[in-house]
Amino acid sequence: MTKRVGFATRLGAIAAAVGSAVGLGNIWRFPYEAGVNGGGAFILVYICCIIVMGIPVILSEFIIGRSTHSNMKAALKKLSPGKKYYLFTYLCILGSFVVIGFYSVVCGWIIEYLYQAVLGNLSGHTPQEYNEMFTSLVASPWRCVGWTVLFLVLNFIVMSRGIEKGIERVASIMMPLLFVILIIFCVNSLLLPGASKGLKFLFYPDFSQLTMRGVLDAFGQAFLSLSIGISCLVTYSSYFKDDTSLAKDATTVAVLDTLVAILSGVMIFPAVFSFGVEPTAGPRLIFEVLPGIFQQMTGGYIWALLFFLLVFFASLTSTISLSEIPITFLIEEHKMSRGRAIAWTALFTFALAVIAALSFNVLDDIKLWGKNIFDMMDYAASNIFMLLGGLFTAVYVGWILDRKVIHEQITNGGRLKGSMEPFLIFCLRYVAPVSIIFIFLYLTGII
Ligand code: PFF
Repeated sequence: MTKRVGFATRLGAIAAAVGSAVGLGNIWRFPYEAGVNGGGAFILVYICCIIVMGIPVILSEFIIGRSTHSNMKAALKKLSPGKKYYLFTYLCILGSFVVIGFYSVVCGWIIEYLYQAVLGNLSGHTPQEYNEMFTSLVASPWRCVGWTVLFLVLNFIVMSRGIEKGIERVASIMMPLLFVILIIFCVNSLLLPGASKGLKFLFYPDFSQLTMRGVLDAFGQAFLSLSIGISCLVTYSSYFKDDTSLAKDATTVAVLDTLVAILSGVMIFPAVFSFGVEPTAGPRLIFEVLPGIFQQMTGGYIWALLFFLLVFFASLTSTISLSEIPITFLIEEHKMSRGRAIAWTALFTFALAVIAALSFNVLDDIKLWGKNIFDMMDYAASNIFMLLGGLFTAVYVGWILDRKVIHEQITNGGRLKGSMEPFLIFCLRYVAPVSIIFIFLYLTGII
């Protein structure tokens, strides 16, 4: 029997959930998705989605996790004995591998940029040269695979030594620092000539720029950014203590995560317009723009170093939470030792990540609908796995789970008011399923 312990403090539990949520999804993916989808209108849909689907689904995962103190499969078996809902866990495991597969490639790029920052190469160049710098990185299979593998080795060393908690403690100092640094960069970015165009792009909702595909992207981005839909937060909340207010914690996680994403946008877009970079540049966007921001700051060398170091830690706390999904599953459901579970998880992760890293070079002629393997994984992770997972979670908690369990968890057995419950139930029963099903049917041409 695996020993289960609670987080020592409420802050420890929140820090772990925020650590999972805040990562490359906010700093790298949010600006690129906003750029591709026309800015302001996308962001408005994104924020609405966080409120009416994101917070309710985080809370649902918390309810499932804390009421059972189990991983997703065991939790669904306990909550719905004799039913087959637990099969959903396999979708979560598959989803977690797809996310970590492409995600660790971007973590690899972060290490390369950290290395370039150490060498002092992130200053003294033109935007065109920064563009070429990124192109040459992804064109090189050795560099791409090398950095990705290095990142994953670090990730699994941390996990096999059982020092995740140590990393989380480091991260709970690093996260506020990242927040402060983002604000400093935002100010610098806003001082650039032509910055106002970037702000207009971000905050003026021009709905003529938003397509239904963009709406789907906003939903997927919200789910990926909050780490919901693949049971990550079920695993974390299974360790929560019985006196934490789940509603408060879910809201805190969502608010902090969204703030970091918006700050990233405010840091990137004024610079995008000032430097004449295309907002639709996609996954390469921040790597082309950031060096230009560091360059015009006093002490740019240090800022660049600090920034990539903090983003590295933010990514590590996210990949730890991602790898924990299959690891906990293998330990608790297949009675594996932690070492073996980590080894199996690492094996699959390495295989997928190497393929993703090669999809810009050796495997770049493998394309489906114009997307290479990396792009397909990136797309499928959020827009298919996490959204479908979110849909399942919403329907399960909204329609199937015993209301008494929900009430008990939200009010901590009657000790809290639980005023969020009606909103939660309404969103889970109607808003989330109707929106997600509608968007899928629309995009597949059924309606
Ligand atoms: N939320 C993380 C980010 O925004 O970078 C990514 C992530 C972590 C997704 C954990 C899913 C997950 F289970």
